[in-house]
Amino acid sequence: MAELSRRRFLGATAASAVLPAFHISSRQKLRGPVAVASANGLQAVQIAVEQMQTGLPPVDAGVKGVEVVENDPNDMSVGYGGLPNERGVVELDACVMDGPTGLGGAVASLHNIKNPAQVALAVMRHTDHVLLVGPGALEFAKLHGFAEENLLTERARQAWLRWKRGLSRKDDWVEDAENVLFDASATGGGGEDGGKEALASMSRPTGTIHVGCVNERGDVGGVTTTSGLAFKIPGRVGDSPLLGCGNYVDNDVGVAGSTGRGEAVILSNGAATVVHHLALGKSPTDACLEACRRIVRMTKVRRLLDERGRPAFQVKFYAVNKRGEMGAAAIRPSRHARMDADGPRLQDSAAVFDD
Ligand code: GLY
Repeated sequence: MAELSRRRFLGATAASAVLPAFHISSRQKLRGPVAVASANGLQAVQIAVEQMQTGLPPVDAGVKGVEVVENDPNDMSVGYGGLPNERGVVELDACVMDGPTGLGGAVASLHNIKNPAQVALAVMRHTDHVLLVGPGALEFAKLHGFAEENLLTERARQAWLRWKRGLSRKDDWVEDAENVLFDASATGGGGEDGGKEALASMSRPTGTIHVGCVNERGDVGGVTTTSGLAFKIPGRVGDSPLLGCGNYVDNDVGVAGSTGRGEAVILSNGAATVVHHLALGKSPTDACLEACRRIVRMTKVRRLLDERGRPAFQVKFYAVNKRGEMGAAAIRPSRHARMDADGPRLQDSAAVFDD
């Protein structure tokens, strides 16, 4: 009996140790349905909230929202019309995560399917897996009725050809000798001998769309979808399809996602970091700022830094807590989209640096 009580006590202690500090009292008002997104998601957040109002779960509502951007040939960072890899092939990544079930699904390096977020949703709903890649992801998509089509628009092909013609130091290949630690005391800060003066990928788009949703019950869902870094090495996967990096959900806490340089988000476990800070009680904007500061702190090699030792790239985070409070922050100034009872709008995000 005494042993049983001890076990019960230890069990209760362990359970309380993993409970997030963040909680909602019965008196606190939930603000959902609300949605936050990257700045290319103004229409997407509106669609997502409308879908939640009809009763669609937050994760499905987010996928409906991003579909409009995945289908848009003029958004060259997502889905159809996305900029291709270095061989001219459009290669898509996406993931979804559902708060109430705690399940997620993802696809990476997927060719010829316009709506990878919907395929990620099918992975979550119809398999015991989380991530399918490359030919396996394509086969899975086709088996689930997704049509194969050429995603390379004429505009994206012309952009790729221009990049090919200008190819010199603007690729992703790095010599060992270029991974030199930044030395602020050295003449000229960044210096000339750090190899590529600024990482080539920094001047290339890593656009993406993330939508985070919370409904009127405080249930949470998130989706991120992208064509990834323009002209990437084939098979390169960024943060977008990686749960905990480009998208993360904890139904007791909230949802977070990212856009921008995926490598930095992977190395810092970005979206999970934001959700961790939400769980500690930080506001969504402050939680996003913490994740940005972590990237600033963890970026140490010269080729990734500007002459003042700051990351020479951009990363943006977006978050909504379970109460439906939204926020966003980035390394440098940027905007985000949000939708609540006041309607869809673009708003300035907080920033670590003001230029
Ligand atoms: N954040 C998108 C990517 O790096 O692929």
